[in-house]
Amino acid sequence: MQKQHIILVGPMGSGKSTLGAALAARLGLAFIDVDANIVAAADQSIPEIFAAEGEAGFREREAQALTDALNHPPAVIATGGGAVLRQANRDAMQAAGCVVYLHVSAQEQLRRIEGDRNRPLLGSDAPAQRLADLQSLREPLYRQIANLVIDTSVQTPEQLAAALELRLHALKDSHA
Ligand code: S3P
Repeated sequence: MQKQHIILVGPMGSGKSTLGAALAARLGLAFIDVDANIVAAADQSIPEIFAAEGEAGFREREAQALTDALNHPPAVIATGGGAVLRQANRDAMQAAGCVVYLHVSAQEQLRRIEGDRNRPLLGSDAPAQRLADLQSLREPLYRQIANLVIDTSVQTPEQLAAALELRLHALKDSHA
């Protein structure tokens, strides 16, 4: 397993995919989107996978896609919001590189993803409450494995990628 990945974790709508792509371009690294790889491998959308196999089936696919991503040469890897739920996933991410938790305010998160039909866990009733419930369960897990935390609520992906690049360098220097 490669040790040099930059692995983005955080809730739906925190900007893992957009910031991940911008950061990978800046750093000259490959970008891997675990959700996109799940969809490609299954040849089904995420809602279709949830409908056919339930959340449990999706989590199996997610664990496999994450393992595959971590076995690639160094890359920026965007995970899905629930990838931290399994202990084995958390251990593998921590062992494989630098984990960055993308924090987003509840208000901005809702603005970004409300009404998104591609996210089955969002549901259609009371999405704000649903997101708050997920966050209270998962936030300790994001923080537990994060080497860095960055708030994505206000700045653009390019601004955030520049800031994150500096912080990654500083972290590397402090470990040198
Ligand atoms: C999920 C988040 C989604 C996707 C799936 C489940 C979750 O990814 O993996 O719908 O459990 O929070 P994003 O975080 O990229 O939306």
